[in-house]
Amino acid sequence: MNKRVVFDKDVIAKRVRELGQAISQRYGNEPLVCVCVLKGAFVFFADLMRSLDIDPELDFVRLASYAGGTSRQGKMIFSKDMEVSIEDKHVLIVEDVVDTGHSMQYLTRVLETRNPRSIAIAALVDKNERRELDVTVDFPGFSLDKGFIVGYGLDYDEKYRGLEGIYELIVND
Ligand code: IMP
Ligand code: MG
Repeated sequence: MNKRVVFDKDVIAKRVRELGQAISQRYGNEPLVCVCVLKGAFVFFADLMRSLDIDPELDFVRLASYAGGTSRQGKMIFSKDMEVSIEDKHVLIVEDVVDTGHSMQYLTRVLETRNPRSIAIAALVDKNERRELDVTVDFPGFSLDKGFIVGYGLDYDEKYRGLEGIYELIVND
C-alpha cells in the first residue's frame, strides 16, 4: 500500500508540546484524570502526558461497537472500563481521531453519569467536516477534512501503528 506523509514527526512533536502547555495551563493544580482511548491514542497519550507540567492521574478505556451493523451508530460498549474514580475530578479524554463523533458522544455520556467536575476532549486529529453529532474537540492537534490516516498509533488492520509520522493511505493508485 502506498502512503503519503501528512504530518511528520517534528511537526507532531511541536504540536504535542503546544497542547501540553495549553492543557497544563487549563487545569493547573485541580484534580484531573487523563483517559487514553485504546488502542489508537496510545502513542499520542504517551507523548502528551510527558509534555505536561502537571501530574494528573492516568487511566485507559477501550471502546468496541457491537458487530452486526455496518453503521458506526450501532451500539457501543466498553471492552475495557476505567479503574480510577472520576467523581468530582476533571476528565480529559485523549483520543486519536474524532470523525463522526459517535465514539466520543458515547464515552462522554457514560462518564457524565459518574459525576466528574468537567469533561473535555483532546484529539490528535479532528476530522470536523465529517461530524454527525455535536461533539467539540477542546484540544485539537490537527484538523483534516478527508483521507484515511495511519501511523503514530493509528492503524489500518492493526498495522502501521509504529510509524513515527502520520501518513495518508493511498488506495488504488
Ligand atoms: P467516530 O466515532 O466516527 O468519531 O470514529 C472515530 C474512530 O474511528 C477513532 O477512534 C478511530 O479509531 C477511527 N478512525 C477514524 N478515522 C480514522 C483514520 O483516518 N485512521 C485511523 N482510524 C480512524
Ligand atoms: Mg479510536
